[in-house]
Amino acid sequence: MDDLIMPNHIGIIMDGNGRWATNRNLKRCDGHKAGLENLKKLCSYMAEKNVNYVSLYAFSTENFKREKKEVNFLMNLFIDAFVKEIDFVHDHKIKVIFSGRREPLPKKVLSAMDDLVNVTKDYDNYTLNICINYGSVTEIIDMTKKICDMYKDNKITLDEIDDKMLFNNLYQELPPLDLVIRTSGEQRLSNFMMLQASYAELYFTDKYFPEFDRYEFDKAILEYNKRNRRFGGN
Ligand code: FPP
Repeated sequence: MDDLIMPNHIGIIMDGNGRWATNRNLKRCDGHKAGLENLKKLCSYMAEKNVNYVSLYAFSTENFKREKKEVNFLMNLFIDAFVKEIDFVHDHKIKVIFSGRREPLPKKVLSAMDDLVNVTKDYDNYTLNICINYGSVTEIIDMTKKICDMYKDNKITLDEIDDKMLFNNLYQELPPLDLVIRTSGEQRLSNFMMLQASYAELYFTDKYFPEFDRYEFDKAILEYNKRNRRFGGN
């Protein structure tokens, strides 16, 4: 494994917590708890493996359509994780950032997010970009509005709008995604970082997220190393 190239930026669509739980006669919320436990193990492993950037799809704008009980459970799980796992984040020197719209996230979630960003801002082991209330189309709308405002205020001309300006006005300035992993057998991006994933390799596995352990992660990296990335060239 050690001679393999590690993708610079990995995206993970953490899917299948609910089905993992249902298959075990557990509640869907137990699946999310198991997902969090697995995520911690994976985050430690990625720290060992010298990953530079990881983006996680934790809650999409569409996830607000779920039953209120599940949405509330997830919001509380996020608060708990961001407050209680602070030692874990310090131990691994992970810099945490967030992507997504703040509205209508509950105040307590926002303040736990802000605190985590604040206390980890000087860490440089790897950057963990957590997408909460995130949707790629919404991100593109927000980016367009920012650029239109700059134009309206005469800060830029139309000719200056180029790919660099688009990418610089997304929620976070991040390098492009090299690899997107999606668990649970679904084979789509589901509105996850579509611009950033323009040239990403896509890896799909039938494993549900709570089962996606270090060995499964290694398999994804091995597969990535077999791909021939041409970026539109020969
Ligand atoms: C998708 O599975 C998963 C989610 C909507 C939540 C992901 C959350 C975690 C892994 C918990 C911790 C995360 C952080 C960042 C603290 P699903 O519910 O759609 O599963 P299903 O498709 O089987 O129903």
